[in-house]
Amino acid sequence: MKTQLTAFPPEQVEADAIALIFFEEKFEEEEKDELPRPVAALDAETSSLIGELYENKEFSGKALEMAWIHRPAGFLAQRLLLVGGGKSAEFSSAKMRQAAGTALRFAKKKGVRHLAIAPAGDLDPGDQVQLLAEGAILADYETDVYKTSASKREDQAGSKIEQLTILGGREHNSRLERGKAIAEAQNFTRELVNEPGNLLTPSVLAARAIQLGYDTELEVEVLRKSHLEDLKMGALLGVAQGSVEPPVIIVVRYRPKRRPRSDEHLGFVGKAVTFDTGGISIKPSEGMEKMKYDMAGGAAMLGAMKALAELKPAIPVTAVIPSVENMPGAAAQRPGDVVTSMSGKTIEVLNTDAEGRLILADALTYAQQQGCTHLVDAATLTGSIVVALGHERVGVFSNNGSWQERFLAASEVAGEKMWPMPLDEEYKDQLKSPIADLPNIGTRWGGSITAAMFLKQFADPAAWIHLDIAGMAWIEKDKPYLPEGPSGIPVRTLIQVAMDS
Ligand code: BES
Ligand code: ZN
Ligand code: ZN
Repeated sequence: MKTQLTAFPPEQVEADAIALIFFEEKFEEEEKDELPRPVAALDAETSSLIGELYENKEFSGKALEMAWIHRPAGFLAQRLLLVGGGKSAEFSSAKMRQAAGTALRFAKKKGVRHLAIAPAGDLDPGDQVQLLAEGAILADYETDVYKTSASKREDQAGSKIEQLTILGGREHNSRLERGKAIAEAQNFTRELVNEPGNLLTPSVLAARAIQLGYDTELEVEVLRKSHLEDLKMGALLGVAQGSVEPPVIIVVRYRPKRRPRSDEHLGFVGKAVTFDTGGISIKPSEGMEKMKYDMAGGAAMLGAMKALAELKPAIPVTAVIPSVENMPGAAAQRPGDVVTSMSGKTIEVLNTDAEGRLILADALTYAQQQGCTHLVDAATLTGSIVVALGHERVGVFSNNGSWQERFLAASEVAGEKMWPMPLDEEYKDQLKSPIADLPNIGTRWGGSITAAMFLKQFADPAAWIHLDIAGMAWIEKDKPYLPEGPSGIPVRTLIQVAMDS
């Protein structure tokens, strides 16, 4: 999909369809204030048609509602797409992305090839351009890569938006580019997460990272098994030993050309278990196919790095992505095994399905050895976080209040919903082993917190944030603005926090 800006008013934009956002407050011809601002002089015939839609309750302006008018009088565009913005007083940047996404998915289904979309509401004009681009590009993503044309969804067959025109002046071009870089990076992450376990192994993920290195100025290094052995990463290697697929750690480095503003160095650590069977502590077969997305944390780090290569923040960023496959088998790790992590701490592996924390333990140690001062890890770590927060918010754990505040502020701007979780010392009481320094699981209670408490012991003393994205990495049901499938969370927040630093 190509994108462009136009300085023309809505009436003069040539396109198959132009989307305008209308609010819930009933549209009245004389109440010109209620119109989207650029439509100051709406054609009388079109405006009375819109009034009728409101009258007949065919359209009420509720968030994500859609209606359309063919051959709207006074417009060069073939169709006028009305998108609900909700109550104008409650309009937000999140709603703006969603409105753009809803318009795009609706128009695509109807065979529109050139879609134009106009800003609305009181947000900053530059922000609006970026948000519309983000919302539309994110909505354009589809998951059916392995469907041959014969079996494509009927409502989608052959449909493709070729051109997206956003109404806004040339002065906002950098915001358009920024929106594009962010959304395309998030889609890159979603493509990786969508790949099945047979086609995306740790080695294939590494190859994709190497390709990213060729395409950008990012430096990519892949630590292979013998290197991980030299580094004495016993926790990671223990998880990998049950699979015929060799483990890797993917390291991606971004170095700013400008002089950094501080001595901070960001470390993005992402869990990339390309398939999690549970190992010998095997998972029930129902729903196990979903465990292909157990590499979503690592894929998010790669996506964020791709965007940073374009957006060039002032701070150095190193991504460390441990990738393994967790399989049962003759060589697999047993419950009760004791492994020695890179940090020197010994771990009793009571449950081989709590593998994410084992590979992250060594990755967190390595990231600090590489000079990272401010760590963010993202992992589909526990079912327990899904019990706590459902599919609405990412759980945020931290050992550093001010770093957590900075991070949560970035998540607000990026429009990715998160929620702070506790990490009191008392939770550590669950992590006692009679035989080793610590076990890899606690009790049934507060499972996402004890998992975070386990990680903390490898993250200290760096400033650290842990994101448990198990409930958020996969969208369970189609939304009007996003298809069911990988979400690409928390790519936007990672980019934002780097740009803010
Ligand atoms: N990858 C899973 C967690 C998960 C669950 C991700 C649901 C996405 C959706 C993780 O490796 C795991 O199996 N965790 C166990 C830990 C337990 C054994 C302490 C869990 O949450 O059940
Ligand atoms: Zn597991
Ligand atoms: Zn897992």
